[in-house]
Amino acid sequence: MERTFIAIKPDGVQRRLVGEIVGRFESKGFKLVGLKVMSVSRELAEQHYDVHREKPFFSSLVNFITSSPVVAMVWEGEGVVASARKLIGATNPLSAEPGTIRGDFGISVGRNLIHGSDAVETAQREIALWFKEEELVSWEESSHRWLY
Ligand code: PPS
Repeated sequence: MERTFIAIKPDGVQRRLVGEIVGRFESKGFKLVGLKVMSVSRELAEQHYDVHREKPFFSSLVNFITSSPVVAMVWEGEGVVASARKLIGATNPLSAEPGTIRGDFGISVGRNLIHGSDAVETAQREIALWFKEEELVSWEESSHRWLY
């Protein structure tokens, strides 16, 4: 089953939007298979954004992502990589459609709340970079009666 890597960036955590953002992925119907709140090392940030190393915003992006904790997650489901990108919205929150996470909560490209893998291969690389195998779980809907 397809998986994607999602990170709620420092602005999303600082603005107490973690529950709201997790809820969007849950409501859509995707399955949470990994989640941790963590401080990001410079080394991890630079590896994660390696393809943007030559971009003018690279150092400010690395400084930002290492400035305060992030919530790293892995979500699973059919077509989850592309669907997550739609839920997230355009890179620049001012251009992002209302109803998307960035469209509803952001105004600045340097503070766009959330990262989502841009392709299946990227997702595989990013999941391996951020998570150990034993930090991810496979689970099925329980057959027990949870609701009364
Ligand atoms: S590009 O140039 O099209 O490859 O860049 P893009 O894919 O849109 O963005 C790559 C990541 O850089 C972030 N970004 C920025 N951060 C700070 N300042 C500026 N100006 C800026 N432009 C792009 C963008 O949010 C992407 O990071 P993630 O974490 O994937 O959102």
